[in-house]
Amino acid sequence: MPIPIASDHAGLPLKQALVAALAAEGLSFNDLGTHGPESVDYPDFAHAVCAKVEGGEPFGILVCGTGIGMAIAANRHPGIRAAVLHSATEARLTRAHNNANIACLGARMMGIEVALDAIRAFLATPFEGGRHERRLQKLDPVLAKQGATGAKPTP
Ligand code: RB5
Repeated sequence: MPIPIASDHAGLPLKQALVAALAAEGLSFNDLGTHGPESVDYPDFAHAVCAKVEGGEPFGILVCGTGIGMAIAANRHPGIRAAVLHSATEARLTRAHNNANIACLGARMMGIEVALDAIRAFLATPFEGGRHERRLQKLDPVLAKQGATGAKPTP
């Protein structure tokens, strides 16, 4: 399934570079904008990607200048766990421990190679479940009600 991705104007060059490089590796993307250099408001694009993830897409990617504004906006959605990534290590651990479902990157903070490694690790790493499932349920009333990850908590 195409991965929903979006950026504001500051994130556009990194988003375009990511899509081009990862498409060459066989991934496909649903680019929800922005598509030009005009100044736009990052929450509009964060909410668009969150709507896709809330609708059933497993992951989304958001890019702004720092990644921080996108993450703040995305994390206002119940059931969204957005992490700002600066490394593949953070990407791996936020998938394994936090079951993060949106990766946020800062185009003014990192180069394309670090961003690519982070996204590859994010997409490849499964959630570990167990004790982490219990912790997610304490974060998120939606998960507490639905047991949405399906993983069985351990003592
Ligand atoms: C845009 O100038 C910038 O504020 C935005 O891309 C982002 O970094 C906000 O968190």
